[in-house]
Amino acid sequence: PDDDRIAALLERMTVEEKLGQLQQLSWAFATGPGNPDNKKVEEAARAGRLGSVLNMFGAKDSNRLQRIAVEKSRLGIPLLFGLDVIHGCLTTFPIPLAQAASFDPAVTERDGAVSAKEARSNGVHWTFSPMMDVTREPRWGRIAESCGEDPYLTAEFAAAKVRGYQGEDLAAADRVAACAKHFAAYGGAEGGRDYNTVDVSESRLRNLYLPPFQAALDAGAATVMAAFNTVGGVPAHGHSHLLTEILKEEWEFDGVVVSDWNGVRELIAHGFAADAADAARLSLNAGLDLEMVSTTLADHGEQLLQEGRIPQERLDDAVTRVLRLKSDLGLFDQPYVSESQAVEAPSRQARAAAREAAARSMVLLKNDQGTLPLDRAAAGIAVVGPFADSADLLGTWTFPGAQKKFRSGKVLDAVRAAARGAEVTYARGVDPAGKDTSGIDEAVAAAEAAEVTIVVVGEAPAISGEAAVRSDLGLPGAQEKLITAIAETGRPFVVVLVNGRPLTIGDWLDRAPAVLEAWHPGIEAGHAIADVLFGTVAPGGKLPASFPRSVGQIPVHYNHESSGRPYAADNKYTSKYLDLPPGPQFPFGHGLSYTTFAVGEPRLSTTRIDAGALRGGDTVEVAVDVRNTGKRAGDEVVQLYVHDLAASITQPVRRLRGFRRVTLRPGKSRTVRFRLGAGDLGFWTNDPKGELRIEPGPIDVYAGNSSTTKAKATLTIG
Ligand code: IFM
Repeated sequence: PDDDRIAALLERMTVEEKLGQLQQLSWAFATGPGNPDNKKVEEAARAGRLGSVLNMFGAKDSNRLQRIAVEKSRLGIPLLFGLDVIHGCLTTFPIPLAQAASFDPAVTERDGAVSAKEARSNGVHWTFSPMMDVTREPRWGRIAESCGEDPYLTAEFAAAKVRGYQGEDLAAADRVAACAKHFAAYGGAEGGRDYNTVDVSESRLRNLYLPPFQAALDAGAATVMAAFNTVGGVPAHGHSHLLTEILKEEWEFDGVVVSDWNGVRELIAHGFAADAADAARLSLNAGLDLEMVSTTLADHGEQLLQEGRIPQERLDDAVTRVLRLKSDLGLFDQPYVSESQAVEAPSRQARAAAREAAARSMVLLKNDQGTLPLDRAAAGIAVVGPFADSADLLGTWTFPGAQKKFRSGKVLDAVRAAARGAEVTYARGVDPAGKDTSGIDEAVAAAEAAEVTIVVVGEAPAISGEAAVRSDLGLPGAQEKLITAIAETGRPFVVVLVNGRPLTIGDWLDRAPAVLEAWHPGIEAGHAIADVLFGTVAPGGKLPASFPRSVGQIPVHYNHESSGRPYAADNKYTSKYLDLPPGPQFPFGHGLSYTTFAVGEPRLSTTRIDAGALRGGDTVEVAVDVRNTGKRAGDEVVQLYVHDLAASITQPVRRLRGFRRVTLRPGKSRTVRFRLGAGDLGFWTNDPKGELRIEPGPIDVYAGNSSTTKAKATLTIG
């Protein structure tokens, strides 16, 4: 709508001002190497040499800086403020991996809407979220920010989060622009080591890593962030096949591509660019629009333009994209935020949403003999473990203000509040790093005196997230020793895990009657955990990533491709580890309830469909019955998988193509219906021009309540 205004502005801009619009600098704090220089930011804003600022927060402070750009710079172009609002702003929701475990995209949409309101009212126009890097690497700390190992689940969550952030109108006072990141394949970093090499075929790129990006863009994501990694030897920041051929040409993306922190300059360290000028040239020409933190374009753009090494049209296109985003956000008309309307603390409704989200995200991994839910009238409850009395359960990537002012509610306090009649005792047992074991005896004594013990163990948020890679995925330090000591008492106990990634659950699994995966649950951690432990909320989450038996088994994901020699117990020459049973400890899609469910065979509306009809938009309906066969109300996630039995590219043994979380009272049943179309039954080949192939032949369609379901029907594509 503002095309004329933008074109007119572009006409008036000097090259320096244009390059300025392509520069983003950090304010106040760093989310990468180096320290921000606020003075430099102000100077650049005044001189019209700055388009965007990251890490600025607060209505008053952002207005003050905005005033410099709008009232003091020659053209008065407003600044664009960006911040990593990843799973909450003031109100921290559970980490994204946990949200994915809810198998309920409404959870993440709600987080997006609550976060957008809190952020925008504090001057933030743009969040660097959602992160949609599919990953099979639990060692990688950033799995916490992801939706795990499945592209379909990730795509559904990515689209929902974008809708939550952006709503219908980016200019609204409670919306922010989303950023689909990191483009692309960052989750494939070799060895799970952050920033490491990725080498993928075109088909894997398109089948595994790209679908969430397409879904996010279809949902209207305004921006995309380039990934730190190389893809096939070319750093993503200089990858014209990714940034231009696929993103801007094939998908017709007309938004902004932002670099990651210092990502343009890092082309030099990658050994891809000779110097800073070369890095600027390579990234702009590859399709990057806005440079975060490093200043290669601002420093060398003018000379590169004069020498004809960057085309004028590319520069103008990048500037137009940035100005269009500002216009869509309404910044030319309203660059400031209302200081009296700034949200300063989580509202009651926001907290309630975060509590519900956290409880819906929890996964009941094990529950022998109905150990859970606990009886709130129990005579004595011991709460032990390094995270039982911890307010540090927000998870990775939380806004620094939230870390200081709006920390997590503690499990211990919530158990006390939920079980008012019980005597609740506490002992830490071991410290979070699990080094100090001096409290184990006290924890054992508490367990011996109690009717039941809740053991809260896991990972401190600081050891998950960016640059937090682990080579050992067990519980840190002596936490396992604490569980074993509690098990030795012979008294009933439950283990609550608070962590940011799939863990290897050691031998203690056999000794623990019940295990609840609570992830890093956010601001309402304590209440949400107590809600599930005492059965106020029935757990219904499912694993979005497989839990390996040991690190040596990684990658172990449900959607692996078929081998020519698939596992067979009685045949040595098949694909296996000699020292491990096949498959993960807990597979993708696994999760129990306090009740039981029967999921029926999938019923197809037709068993034969023409490839041409699929291409023309026809679909097959799959109906699946689900019944609550137990004695309590509960949630089940009906999951639909497909397997193409013979194709020109070897296919995954299963791939998720549908899921629905339903709540059923005891004895009740429901029929869940899915539709399978071209996008569900086709696949991408190694053709760099991108072609979805739909090949004739049989496709097994599986339905069930985890990725290991056996119930299937066969559909033939004619
Ligand atoms: O958005 C993040 C990105 O995911 C990792 N590097 C820093 C960016 C901005 O904080």
